[in-house]
Amino acid sequence: KSSPAGAPERLPFSKVTDEDLAYFRKILPGRTITDPDLVESSNVDWLKTVKGSSEVLLRPQTTEEVSQILRYCYNRNLAVNPQGGNTGLVGGSVPVYDEIILSTSLMNNILTFDNISGILTCQAGCVLENLSLYLEERDYIMPLDLGAKGSCQIGGNVATNAGGLRLLRYGSLHGTVLGLEVVLADGRVLDCLATLRKDNTGYDLKQLFIGSEGTLGVITAVSILCPRKPKSTNSYLFLLLGCETFEELLKTFQLCRGMLGEILSAFEFLDSECMRLLNTHLKLPNPISDCPFYIVIETSGSDPDHDSQKLDNFLEEAIASTFVTDGTVATEESKIKALWSMRERVTEALTHDGFTYKYDISLPVERIYQLVTDMRQHLGDRAKSVVGYGHVGDGNLHLNITSPAKDPALLAAIEPFVYEWTASCQGSISAEHGLGLKKRNYIYYSKPSQAVALMGNIKAMLDPKGILNPYKTLPDNLK
Ligand code: FAD
Ligand code: MLT
Ligand code: ZN
Repeated sequence: KSSPAGAPERLPFSKVTDEDLAYFRKILPGRTITDPDLVESSNVDWLKTVKGSSEVLLRPQTTEEVSQILRYCYNRNLAVNPQGGNTGLVGGSVPVYDEIILSTSLMNNILTFDNISGILTCQAGCVLENLSLYLEERDYIMPLDLGAKGSCQIGGNVATNAGGLRLLRYGSLHGTVLGLEVVLADGRVLDCLATLRKDNTGYDLKQLFIGSEGTLGVITAVSILCPRKPKSTNSYLFLLLGCETFEELLKTFQLCRGMLGEILSAFEFLDSECMRLLNTHLKLPNPISDCPFYIVIETSGSDPDHDSQKLDNFLEEAIASTFVTDGTVATEESKIKALWSMRERVTEALTHDGFTYKYDISLPVERIYQLVTDMRQHLGDRAKSVVGYGHVGDGNLHLNITSPAKDPALLAAIEPFVYEWTASCQGSISAEHGLGLKKRNYIYYSKPSQAVALMGNIKAMLDPKGILNPYKTLPDNLK
């Protein structure tokens, strides 16, 4: 018997009955969705590579409703798939079989914002971009930004511990999230929604849920520390630069860190193959001359004269030292946005190139491009495109390989090669996307077995029946 996407056999959870539906309709009138056409989009992931067969989509509005749902599902032994904006890239956000989909989309209220401390408290279903817009009107920004901002939700961001484009400057959610409210598998509400910068009263429980991918509890509210918006207008400056070699790109990174210091907010890269896909599939023209590598640099500070002086000095030095061969600067918001899309829309361009095998690898920064070069050589002409892009500043490579259609022989050539290569450098096989369904069994390449076993113990303690996001994150041998 085959199971979808390499998942284990369906575990012996109950099946949803008419009586269950009657209960859900009673507590969520009009928000218990069973029309197959409406449930369909929640069954399929953003990449359209994983598809579940759930027949029920629940759309609670309050923590109390989430608690009622989970208490009921726990007693009935019904499996539940928490879902935010469904932009996850590892098959974690959609059911594998008939798990009930619990969507946070209607939990989209901002609860409080403290203008002095910059601490925002909101429900988990707030869309990241809406939070950014709300904060910008109040001279603050969100400490994270990603290409999926128009759809992803803060609860999903926390559940995946999303990294993104600003991590270099503002750090990870493990630092900026100050508190969480979580509904546990049996319906108990864990109120750790603190709004304090400092709190050393024992174990920091919220950290367990950051990056837990819906397997330990449903995050219902988040409190997060937000940085001030860079003060003046034109406070963002942007550079797109071209380099001949990855070594020169790294030298530019060194120079940039030294000369731009505290105003540097992003240092990203893409290779010429990404640029080709942007041109071909999205008709985005290359704004500079063709180069093997492109660097995306953003600065944000509070004094435009001082910031642009710093940027000019940096550029002068980078050109004089011949690290970069061409480049363009943007100061206006519209041009900055247009240039940012050269980096942010690579993911979308790839979906038009064919079936995409995605790898999200952490490595010592000086090794990150070697993996792309080695993979190209290893695959020869078996792949359609092999591209590299990512967050240089964080040592995070996105290696993506496409083929005209799903190709098991190609996959067998990529894996475990890519994981063995990563493990040989003590890298991580998932830097920021999580493990979800697709990567769960490769966890041992990056985590010792004692640590994985402890994860299993924690899961068993918080969710003894395993109803929350089954088949995800934990390897099959722990289920
Ligand atoms: P979903 O996709 O709905 O869910 C993701 C996981 O979290 C699932 O396991 C789900 O069960 C769980 N989950 C969701 N909500 C909750 C909740 N309230 N409680 C408990 N569990 C929950 N990621 C990065 O790290 N950096 C990037 O730069 C980045 N860029 C992206 C760009 C694009 C174009 C796309 C499509 C994705 C990108 N991602 C990136 C992937 C990414 O993980 C996210 O987009 C985001 O963090 C997921 O949020 P979501 O609301 O869509 O969650
Ligand atoms: C990115 O950095 O663009 C995202 O993580 C999405 C991706 O890996 O494609
Ligand atoms: Zn990324």
